[in-house]
Amino acid sequence: MKTIDLRSDTVTQPTDEMIEAIVQAHKSGRLGDDVIGEDKVIHELQEKAARILGKEAALLVTSGTQGNVIALLAQASRGDEIVVEEKSHTFLFEAGSMSSLGGLFPKPVKSVRGYILPETLEASINRDDAHLAKTAMLVIENTHNFAGGTIITPEQVRNLTSVAREHELKIHCDGARLFNAAVALDIPAKKLVEDVDSVQICFSKGLSAPVGSIIAGTEEFIHDSHRIRKRLGGGMRQAGIIAAPMIVALEKMVERLKDDHDNAKLLYQNISEIPNLITEEPETNIIFLGLDNLPIDAMKLSEELGKDGILVYGGYGERTRMVLNRMVDRDDVVKVANVLNRILRAE
Ligand SMILES: Cc1ncc(COP(=O)(O)O)c(C=O)c1O
Repeated sequence: MKTIDLRSDTVTQPTDEMIEAIVQAHKSGRLGDDVIGEDKVIHELQEKAARILGKEAALLVTSGTQGNVIALLAQASRGDEIVVEEKSHTFLFEAGSMSSLGGLFPKPVKSVRGYILPETLEASINRDDAHLAKTAMLVIENTHNFAGGTIITPEQVRNLTSVAREHELKIHCDGARLFNAAVALDIPAKKLVEDVDSVQICFSKGLSAPVGSIIAGTEEFIHDSHRIRKRLGGGMRQAGIIAAPMIVALEKMVERLKDDHDNAKLLYQNISEIPNLITEEPETNIIFLGLDNLPIDAMKLSEELGKDGILVYGGYGERTRMVLNRMVDRDDVVKVANVLNRILRAE
């Protein structure tokens, strides 16, 4: 029985072309010690990524979590307050990094499907008063994982940045899945980040690279980020072996994210009629199943799906997250839909 892994798009294995790119990077003699700036493959990746994102410069970092915390530490000071969406990755799932490493104080606010309304942002910003922390930054997450892979459009980003600028806030975009948003909207990724100061993009999710993220912004931001990355133990040596598959990801893997989106829609179409199941048409590759009105919880559903070789996390309370990814094809989706119909209609 084939395992159908819907736990995350991080389970994607590198492609043969990525492994070949690692070998070629080695054979071509372009690897070098990146701590002293000598890995040419990394330079190529960083220049390409900066160009694609419309930013002055970019930096290879080990992970999305590292990239996000570097961006915050580089642009805010100890004691500053950071406005975050209440279910965002930076707030909930990064082990309290902004507070523990940077002395930054997260202010979680509500959103509509991952989009913080401009009036919510406005109301969250502290007035200049010695009793209050200085509100220094806004973090947006695009696409928004916990809201179900939802997209923040360029216009929405602009609405937020215009409020943020009025109050001299920096803006960081956790774009772990930014390319999913770009592909779904059929626009260049740079349109989604032209108004933000910094962006982080994961290459180890739907893009299928084995490791690595990029942060991008101004030359000055990247200069400061470089030192913080070193401080966090993220200075790497012949890390061109990481950058080589990331270059393949940038060149070859972005457009295919559409397949994951199509599969997510197909899954939705085949399960949306299940009585009492709460679900919404996916915008990208993530779909949540709300089980509140069904006599089964996420843990039990994960166990039941496991019997048919379908993997999902059980830890989302009354919701089950399914993340479509390159390792899952249309036939798998049809099977998942059939199994879900069988389990949930029997309840
Ligand atoms: C929205 C979002 N941001 C950041 C991250 C962190 O990425 P990493 O696991 O590479 O640290 C994730 C990972 O799942 C994510 O979903």
